[in-house]
Amino acid sequence: MRVRTPDEIRRDRRRRSHSCWGHLIVAPLWAQHGANLGTLLRTCDAVGACMAVPPHDWVSDALRRGNTVPGRSCVHRTGNPARWIENERLKGSRIIGVELIEGATRLADLPAACGRTVVVLGHERHGIASDVLDLLDEAVEIPMVGRGASLNVAVAGSLVLYRLAGLL
Ligand SMILES: C[S@@+](CC[C@H](N)C(=O)[O-])C[C@H]1O[C@@H](n2cnc3c(N)ncnc32)[C@H](O)[C@@H]1O
Repeated sequence: MRVRTPDEIRRDRRRRSHSCWGHLIVAPLWAQHGANLGTLLRTCDAVGACMAVPPHDWVSDALRRGNTVPGRSCVHRTGNPARWIENERLKGSRIIGVELIEGATRLADLPAACGRTVVVLGHERHGIASDVLDLLDEAVEIPMVGRGASLNVAVAGSLVLYRLAGLL
């Protein structure tokens, strides 16, 4: 067996031009750790998603530092989380929350996204704020068997993005 070279890997990828019209947008609206934003940005590149982040200076710095892929990434700026999500709904986005909550869809049962979809991720300690939970169309839960209460937010977001992108 032989590991493929980076050039071979890129050549074999499916071709797609970037457009936000029916796109996946991951929204870590309360992110606290820059490293998680960098990890999510890399996943966005891999699956062809955009990212929506709060307009804080430290967030822009963290994305600049954490961006390990060549070229420009598609990053949207949000404001008040609930207002931004209401606005996305008006644009026709489906709002999916990634959270361990009652009635959530298990990751394996989540179909690939068709149409513009916003994937909301919670705060590293406090999860998704309650006013935003009320605005979700659907919640997705990643089943766990370990002793930890939850996954790292960038890992959880990446798994859901892969699923919604139809790549997993
Ligand atoms: C570290 S968790 C925070 C959990 C928080 N302590 C709580 O109890 O709500 C950070 C975020 O990662 C996501 N997350 C982590 N593990 C998850 C899982 N197993 N299923 C779905 N989302 C998960 C959620 O978006 C969550 O808000």
